[in-house]
Amino acid sequence: MGDYMEIILAKYSGFCFGVTRAAALLKEQLEKTKPVSTFGPLIHNPQFNEEMKKQGAGIVNSVEEVKDGSIIISRAHGLEKSIIEALKNKDIILIDGVCPFVKSVHKKALGLEEKGYQVILIGEREHAEVKAAASYIKNPIIIENAKEITDLNIEGKIGVVVQTTQSQKNVDDVILALENKFGKENIKLENTRCLATEERQTAAMNLAKKVDVMIIIGGKESANTKRLHEICSTIIKSYHIETAEELNQIDFTGINKAGITAGASTPQYVIDKVVEKLKNI
Ligand code: F3S
Repeated sequence: MGDYMEIILAKYSGFCFGVTRAAALLKEQLEKTKPVSTFGPLIHNPQFNEEMKKQGAGIVNSVEEVKDGSIIISRAHGLEKSIIEALKNKDIILIDGVCPFVKSVHKKALGLEEKGYQVILIGEREHAEVKAAASYIKNPIIIENAKEITDLNIEGKIGVVVQTTQSQKNVDDVILALENKFGKENIKLENTRCLATEERQTAAMNLAKKVDVMIIIGGKESANTKRLHEICSTIIKSYHIETAEELNQIDFTGINKAGITAGASTPQYVIDKVVEKLKNI
């Protein structure tokens, strides 16, 4: 477009601790022995998963597909309890790629249930992390947003845990609705949102206030990337893209400052390509 466009990267973006750890475990194993497979995509980023496939990593999606003697790495978002148990009963090497913060959701939920709380899990029903967390307790109730509280009937104490990638706003809204309906004294919140999420969301929000457009890079299925997009969209025109090629579909006319952020599962090289391409627009 000719005019100079300033490109600003959010203070925190891209690979978080848990994803860095899982990716390192897989790479390390690929260097030692093959074949190695991940159970489900290791992280929600098609470019990363494609790259790992090229390096020899397979993906299995069911216990039946797992052959004796294989090396399996569990994904960062966690696996359902029944799957872990079935895998442990097989003659395989199981490497634990589950993020420690995701495990903490399982532990806190179980702890609350053992103390007699009805556990509510705030999160997306269909997300792998939420399904896995729910599988660790006997009677989970999954709530996506405050509106769903209206139809809820619960007797006694309520303990709440949170999908790691939830926005604080959604957690606040759900807690407020629960307190209004069931009484503040009956609600105990274990806020299991993860710090990486918090940092990326706050940094994205602050940046969105200073620019003319926000570009959010990450897998279309990545919950935390979608959330970054939602947050930025409430402030400024924002686009969720997976690769640099998608920049072609965006009209940058009149844009002086473009902000960039990326989900916790977006590899640095994907971010670099977007920045490179943006510099030449
Ligand atoms: Fe773990 Fe938080 Fe990343 S829960 S996988 S460090 S977003």
